[in-house]
Amino acid sequence: MYKYRIRGGTAIEGEIAVSGAKNAALPIMAASILSGSESVLHNCPAISDVEKMKEILSGLGCRVKEAGETIIIDSSSLASCKINGSLMKSMRSSIFLAGPLLSRCGHVEIHEPGGCNIGKRPIDIHLDAFKKMGALCAFSEGRIILKAEKLKGAEINMPFPSVGATENIIAAAACAEGTTIIRGAAKEPEIVDMQDFLNGCGADVRGAGTDIIMIEGRHSLNGTTHRIIPDRIEAGTFLTLAAITGGQLCLRGAKASHLRAYIDVLKRAGCTVLEYDGSIEIKGPGRLKNIGFVETSGYPGFPTDLQSFAMVLAVFSEGTSCIRENVFERRFAIAKELNKMGAEIEIKSRDAIIKGGRKLRGNFLEATDLRGGAAITLAAIGAPGESIVSGIQYIDRGYSRFEEKLTQVGADIQRIESENGERKD
Ligand code: EPZ
Repeated sequence: MYKYRIRGGTAIEGEIAVSGAKNAALPIMAASILSGSESVLHNCPAISDVEKMKEILSGLGCRVKEAGETIIIDSSSLASCKINGSLMKSMRSSIFLAGPLLSRCGHVEIHEPGGCNIGKRPIDIHLDAFKKMGALCAFSEGRIILKAEKLKGAEINMPFPSVGATENIIAAAACAEGTTIIRGAAKEPEIVDMQDFLNGCGADVRGAGTDIIMIEGRHSLNGTTHRIIPDRIEAGTFLTLAAITGGQLCLRGAKASHLRAYIDVLKRAGCTVLEYDGSIEIKGPGRLKNIGFVETSGYPGFPTDLQSFAMVLAVFSEGTSCIRENVFERRFAIAKELNKMGAEIEIKSRDAIIKGGRKLRGNFLEATDLRGGAAITLAAIGAPGESIVSGIQYIDRGYSRFEEKLTQVGADIQRIESENGERKD
């Protein structure tokens, strides 16, 4: 297993090119099989979840090639509708294939994706929608079997604005018979990107980015060429790095309009944030001010994926802050890790109360999820002393060349392979 060895307290300055969005690339790669021909996706991030999606698509019979950050998927040779169980378990985003496979093959066999360290993550909203569109759903030994001669358009009222369910329904509806209307849809930018991709394939999807999305089913789709949007969560990650270290960064390719809620919190904390057409510049203040009360919700509210970074911001700022996590039920795991560094964080149900202004020092830290792992890595860079971060395979799922990008702006971070990673003061 790999770990990071970090020597904190170094000056942070420079420029980072933001990669393509993991949470756009994965559903779009899955939706590409709807066309039964070749799609070219530019600006795909080099991360292990994309690698896994490529493996799953190849396992279904698609021909998948890549050249740098471009992935080419030819689904004319699709030969199976059964997703490999171990691959499914290792990446819950394989659920994005359910809608496209059900539409393309009329039959899907998937494994319950299962929960992860941030929550149970059920898929009831996905399955209820497929049933409304005419699919039969059966369960057998942990597998879910979905069958539908031909999916039919339906009116779907979402009990919760689930991002993945919204994307799965759009994909299932793109070639269904008739019109599908989704009410209470999630409004994330990644859903707009998926709409743009599908319409590039000849689909008729309207309203993504709002809570009402209408899809006119098409008889068939063609392949297309599409450029994945920049990753707003990666951009938010590096904005946090500048904020907690008093550093200065330019994030090339970042879209400020996708980060409005987080930029507001960074400005509240005293950061200077300048927005340009194709980049964001940030300068952290000498002393971070209190971030007050922050609560997560669906887009355009404060994103749950940046909640761990808000917690790190609060730890490095003055005074007491409170963060409420409304989306996932178990997304405060990093509090324990930050407290090991000297932070003072108390968890009360959905709330984290952070007493800032504590002196922090490096320590042995453990990543237990993707965003939390990245957040404690930033804290280790911002705090004096040496830290060892284990569990960095979680970080590799969603960040490409993470330590390379951090090193190029001044962080002292190495990827080490060791049994014990003993502390070397
Ligand atoms: C997507 O996950 C993202 N993943 C997550 O990013 C992100 O945190 C999440 O949306 C919320 O923005 C990808 O896009 C690959 P949800 P998803 O369905 O679709 C409940 C990251 O770090 N729910 O919006 O799984 C669920 O339990 C990852 O990049 C149901 O109850 O999220 C959760 O509490 C982490 N039934 C809430 O909705 C369902 O059928 C939000 O889930 C589906 C969801």
